[in-house]
Amino acid sequence: MTQPDDSAAAPRRSILITSALPYANGPIHLGHMVEYIQTDIWARFQKMRGHDCWYVCADDAHGTPIMLRARAEGITPEALIARMAQEHQADFADFRIGFDNYHSTHSDENRHFATLIYTRNRERGHIIQRTIAQAYDPVEEMFLPDRFIIGNCPKCGAPDQYGDNCEVCGASYSPAELGNPRSALSGAVPEQRESEHFFFRLSDFEEMLRTWTRAGTLQLQVANKLDEWFTAGLQEWDISRDAPYFGFPIPEQPGKFFYVWLDAPIGYMASFRNLCDSPGGRAAGLDFDDFWASDSQAELYHFIGKDIIYFHALFWPAMLHGAGFRTPTAVFAHGFLTVDGQKMSKSRGTFIKARTYLEQLNPEYLRYYFAAKLGPGVDDIDLNLEDFQARVNADLVGKVVNLASRTAGFIHKRFAGRLAATLPDPDLFAACAAAGAGIADAYERREYSRAVREIMAVADRANQYIDAQAPWVLAKQPERAADLQAVCTQGLNLFRLLIGWLRPILPGTAAQAETFLGSGPLTWAALAQPLLDHAIAPFQPLMTRIEPARISALLAAARVDLQASADAAGTADGSHGGAAGGRHLASDPLAATIDFETFARVDLRIARISAAEHVTGADKLLRLTLDLGGETRTVFAGIRQAYEPAQLVGRLTVMVANLAARRMRFGVSEGMVLAAGPGGQDIFLLAPDSGAEPGMKVR
Ligand code: MSP
Ligand code: ZN
Repeated sequence: MTQPDDSAAAPRRSILITSALPYANGPIHLGHMVEYIQTDIWARFQKMRGHDCWYVCADDAHGTPIMLRARAEGITPEALIARMAQEHQADFADFRIGFDNYHSTHSDENRHFATLIYTRNRERGHIIQRTIAQAYDPVEEMFLPDRFIIGNCPKCGAPDQYGDNCEVCGASYSPAELGNPRSALSGAVPEQRESEHFFFRLSDFEEMLRTWTRAGTLQLQVANKLDEWFTAGLQEWDISRDAPYFGFPIPEQPGKFFYVWLDAPIGYMASFRNLCDSPGGRAAGLDFDDFWASDSQAELYHFIGKDIIYFHALFWPAMLHGAGFRTPTAVFAHGFLTVDGQKMSKSRGTFIKARTYLEQLNPEYLRYYFAAKLGPGVDDIDLNLEDFQARVNADLVGKVVNLASRTAGFIHKRFAGRLAATLPDPDLFAACAAAGAGIADAYERREYSRAVREIMAVADRANQYIDAQAPWVLAKQPERAADLQAVCTQGLNLFRLLIGWLRPILPGTAAQAETFLGSGPLTWAALAQPLLDHAIAPFQPLMTRIEPARISALLAAARVDLQASADAAGTADGSHGGAAGGRHLASDPLAATIDFETFARVDLRIARISAAEHVTGADKLLRLTLDLGGETRTVFAGIRQAYEPAQLVGRLTVMVANLAARRMRFGVSEGMVLAAGPGGQDIFLLAPDSGAEPGMKVR
C-alpha cells in the first residue's frame, strides 16, 4: 500500500516567508486577503512537507497618511497604530492566517536594522545628499506629498483632482501641472521650498540587479517589467522626508526622517529578529544570521501585490546587498482582486472589509475560492459572488464533506466507530493516493487552481465509488455488515486523503477532521498509509452550505460600512494600495452620503409664505415670497402643479435658509422650500407643527 513519497526523501529546507506589511492606516479588506491567503497556503504546505518553515509579517506603521489620520482622530500615531495592530491581527487570526510572528515597523528591531542598512550603504558611498524644491503648505508648515495637492485636472479640467492622477479621466501627471493647485490639508496655495534630501544610488547596483533578476528570482511577467525599467534607466531614490513625519529619525540629521518605504521591507527582518528573540524562536534554536547573512543557505520568499514590485525587486535587493546581507531567493507577485468583474468599489458596496466578511461567512469558503482561482502569475482574480457560492457548495460541501457524512455515521452506529482492518479496493486507494505527488508539485509552484482541480478529480472518483457501492442499501441487509464496514472504511480513507491535501487551504476544517479521525496531524507523509482497524470519533458536520441570504447580508453590511466611512470623512481609505489615507478636502465621488458636519451646516428655518404667484413661461414653478421673521426672501419652487397660489398665502413651511442664491431664468432664488412626494400634483410642502414662528430654527 505504499506509493512514492517524494517528501520523505527530499532534504529538509529552511524557509522564511513573508507577506507585504499592511498599512496601519486602514482596515484589512478582501483585496488584502488574496495575498495573506495565498502566502498562508504556501507556508502551511511547506510545513506539512516537514520543512523548517517560518512565516512572518508586521504592520507598516510609518508615513504621512498615518500621521495625518491620527491627527484627524485627535490621538497620537502610537495610539492609532496600536489599535490598528490589534484589529489587523484579529482579522488575520479569524481568517486562520498562521503567522509565526506579527510585529510592527515602529519597533526597536526595525529602528536598529533601518539605521544599520542606511549607515552601511552611506559608508560605501551609495547614499548622497542633494537639495531639491518641493511643494510646501505654508499653513500646515509641512512639505506635501503629491497626493495631498489638489487642483484642476490638466487634461479634462475636472476640479478637486489629486496631484498624481485624475479620477474622472484617468490621466496621470505631476502636481506641477494641476490648474489652481491647493493643499488638500489646509486649502492654501502650495509654495515651492528647498530642502536637503538623501538619495539612494540605485544605479550603483545595476550589474548586481541584472544578475539577480535573471537567477530565477522573478516570474516571467515581472522580469519583463524589470527589463523595461532597466532600459528606462535606474533613478536615484529619495529615502528622506522632512519633519513633521511619523518615522525613524535619520542619524545625525536633525529634522530628517527615513521615508516609510525605506524601513518597510526592513520590517521583514525586524519581525524575524523579534521571532528569534521570542520564547518560541529560542526553543526552536532559530538563528537570525542563518537566514540573513550574505552566505545564508536558507530560502527567503516575499509574497507581494503587483503594485509594489519596484520596491521589492529593485530597491530592496540593492539595499540588502549594499549592506552586506543576503538577497531574496524569489519575489512572488500576485494580481488584484476584483468583485463581480470590477475593481472593488465603495459605491457598488463591493468594498468588503475582512471583518464584514467574517461577520457573515466562514473564512474557509473564501480561502477555498481564492485557492481555486489563484495561479502563479500576476493576473487579477475575480470574486464572482454567484460562482463563489456555487463552487463552495458543490465542491466542499457536495463532494468533500458529503463523502464523510455519507460513511461516518454507519461506522459509528454499526461498528462502534471502528474502521475495517483491510480496504476492499486497495488499488483504488493507491491510484487516488498517487495523485498526491502532482498536487504537491502544484502547491510548490503556486498553481493552486491546479492543485484544487486535481483534488476535486479524486473527490469525483471517491463519490463515484460510494454511489456505486451504495452503503445505504448495504445497511438494510444485515448479512452484508462486513461489506458495509469495508465500503465506509474505503470512503473515509479517500476522504482523509482529500482533506489532508486540502489542509493548507482549509486549516480549520482539516483540524476538525483530524479530531474526528483521531490519527494525529495530517502531514503529507502520513497520508500515504490508510487508516485501518482504528477507532474514529463521532462525526460532526464539518461545513454547511452557503445560503444566498448570507451573500445578500454581506453586501448589505458592506453598504453600511460605506455609510460609516463616509461619516468619518477623510479618514477612510478605499484606494487600492492603501496609501492614500488622506483624501480630505475634495468630495468623495463614491459616497452617496453626506457626513454629519455637512448636514449640521444646513440652516433650516420656519418661513411664512407671504405671497405666491405664477411665473410666466414656467409651468412648474411658483414664485414665493417668504417671511423669515423680519427678513424676506424670494424663492422659486417647483410646486405649481400641486398648489394654487392662493392656497399657500399665509401658510408656514420649512426652508433651507443658507443655500447659496442661484440665478434662474426668471430671477434669483434665495433658498429652497422643503417638499416631498412623487411629483406632479402629489408634492407636499413641509408643514411645521403649530406653535412655530417665522424665523425659528428647525432641528
Ligand atoms: N505597506 C505596503 C507594503 C510594504 S511591504 C514592505 C502596502 N500596504 S497595503 O496595505 O497597501 O497592501 C498590502 C498588500 O496587499 C500589498 O502587497 C498589496 O499589493 C496587497 N493588496 C492591497 N489591495 C489589494 C487588492 N485589491 N487586491 C490584491 N492585493 C491587494 O502596500
Ligand atoms: Zn481628468
